[in-house]
Amino acid sequence: MKKILAFSGSNSSESINKKLLKSVIGYAERVEVELIDLRDYPAEVFGIDLEQNEGFPKSMQDLFARMREADGYLISVPEHNGSMPAVFKNSIDWISRMGGKIFDNKPVVFLSASPGGRGGASVLEHLNRIMPHRGAEIIGSYGVASFNDKWEEGRFNNSEDLAKIKELIIALENKVLMEA
Ligand SMILES: Cc1cc2nc3c(=O)[nH]c(=O)nc-3n(C[C@H](O)[C@H](O)[C@H](O)COP(=O)(O)O)c2cc1C
Repeated sequence: MKKILAFSGSNSSESINKKLLKSVIGYAERVEVELIDLRDYPAEVFGIDLEQNEGFPKSMQDLFARMREADGYLISVPEHNGSMPAVFKNSIDWISRMGGKIFDNKPVVFLSASPGGRGGASVLEHLNRIMPHRGAEIIGSYGVASFNDKWEEGRFNNSEDLAKIKELIIALENKVLMEA
């Protein structure tokens, strides 16, 4: 069965981006969705000396293997100071050293959840600009603004956001199923 790998670009135990993913991954009904947590893949900050002296961290080799096994990606990335969080960038930097393009020319949907009013517009703009050069075939992206106002009794309740994300996930699923 084809597989979509889903994860939040956050290492927060209370990640709103992970909460968003948990609320929407059920829309992919025709493929397997594997939701992982970057907290299970801790790694030192990338450094060329570290790489040369100690090689790749086991956690990053495992994450790389998980990415290579998958047929597409659903990644919800928080915005930190207008860009991606250090933990996500660090994983990307390690994986970029392991051979081939990070996203392996596979389809990707980027989401972002923010407590603020812009829904991670800057980080999504950044990801859309740079990740195609890293092998991401971007199907689309969507930012959820004011996330905390839309989270009630352990549920994400904004039907407009959910409808737009559902469309993207179905497009991602279609693309994954089309690939040989
Ligand atoms: C260091 C730092 C920088 C942040 N910068 C931004 C920002 O530029 N834009 C924004 O919308 N939110 C910003 N935030 C708020 C995050 O969107 C918020 O912490 C969010 O919960 C992070 O997602 P997570 O819960 O999935 O980790 C920042 C938070 C931190 C800790």
